[in-house]
Amino acid sequence: MIKLGIIGTNWITDQFVEAALESKKYHLKAVYSRELETAKKFGEKYAGKIEYADDLTTFFNLAIDTVYIASPNSLHFPQAKQAVLAGKNVIVEKPAFSNPTEFEELVHLANQKRVFFFEAARNIHEESFKAITNRLPDNDHIIGADLSFMKYSSRYDLVLAGEEPNIFSPHFSGGAVMDLGVYPIYAAIAWFGMPRESHYFSQKIATDVDGIGFAILRYETFDVSIRTGKISDSYQKSEIYLDEGTLVLNAINSINQAAFHRHDKSVEEISLQSLENPMIEEALDFAKIMNHPKDVELGELYQEWVELARNVNQVLYDLRKSAGIVFDADQK
Ligand SMILES: NC(=O)c1ccc[n+]([C@@H]2O[C@H](COP(=O)([O-])OP(=O)(O)OC[C@H]3O[C@@H](n4cnc5c(N)ncnc54)[C@H](OP(=O)(O)O)[C@@H]3O)[C@@H](O)[C@H]2O)c1
Repeated sequence: MIKLGIIGTNWITDQFVEAALESKKYHLKAVYSRELETAKKFGEKYAGKIEYADDLTTFFNLAIDTVYIASPNSLHFPQAKQAVLAGKNVIVEKPAFSNPTEFEELVHLANQKRVFFFEAARNIHEESFKAITNRLPDNDHIIGADLSFMKYSSRYDLVLAGEEPNIFSPHFSGGAVMDLGVYPIYAAIAWFGMPRESHYFSQKIATDVDGIGFAILRYETFDVSIRTGKISDSYQKSEIYLDEGTLVLNAINSINQAAFHRHDKSVEEISLQSLENPMIEEALDFAKIMNHPKDVELGELYQEWVELARNVNQVLYDLRKSAGIVFDADQK
């Protein structure tokens, strides 16, 4: 059983802990919070002996082997670094790190310490996503794609009231492309590989990060457009244009409806299922790697995920650069 410790006590950590426990591969052993009271309030919902800490040095000395990190984005790097140096595997919420410098340092350290680093990019671990991946032909048969993920954030109300919540703050590496754009970017790179150029056209909000934007990833023979944002809702489906027709997806994560529309107007419905807790599949995937550290095939799969995470991190960085979005983390 994996001995799990968690950092960050918001709802997403509950969702991950519930997924981890449901997978039957993890025990929740320790909770860190800046406030001991918050840590205890979080942990008391779960069974078993759980230890608590309000400082990270104590926390990393507890009996845990793996840490799930769901703090504000800019804190992922220093916290993951401390965890890895203490010999822990890290599951880091998306987007794992603010820029390629942080990414490379963390991966280098993880390799040195012989621990695993996972980015919790849940969409690529979902069975429905894998089914779409298997359905796609190689890039010679792709004509383009139009991917979308945009959702109004209630925390934008705080921005309108003159505040700077973490998710919209350049001090915490926030903004639309980092928070939601990361999912379609993951999809594009998982499906089509690394683009040769990427551009981002975005509108900044009062906090100086992107509230809404439109990215274009240019490949050798086609383009992928990506709509993302946190200051409005999109009801647009995602589409992939193939030489034989169009693959229409109801979403870019938790995909549960897909249909292939051929040029002759015939339609093939693709049967897919998304789980109620969309984090179970990633919890299982990560556990498989951690429980079989010497398995060669799983080792290769792990390296593929790291490479994919590296490419996503690079594209996010390039997109931000093209739109003039600068984080405190870039200036260190
Ligand atoms: N995979 C998904 O579907 C999904 C969904 C939502 C969010 N996320 C990711 O999860 C991460 C957290 O997002 P969130 O919206 O939950 O962030 P958040 O509410 O801003 O912060 C998360 C936790 O971090 C701690 N924290 C907050 N502000 C802090 C500060 N200034 N200094 C140190 N610690 C602080 C708090 O825990 P304590 O008070 O206990 O210290 C808080 O519960 C992000 O990386 C986000 O992208 C992923």
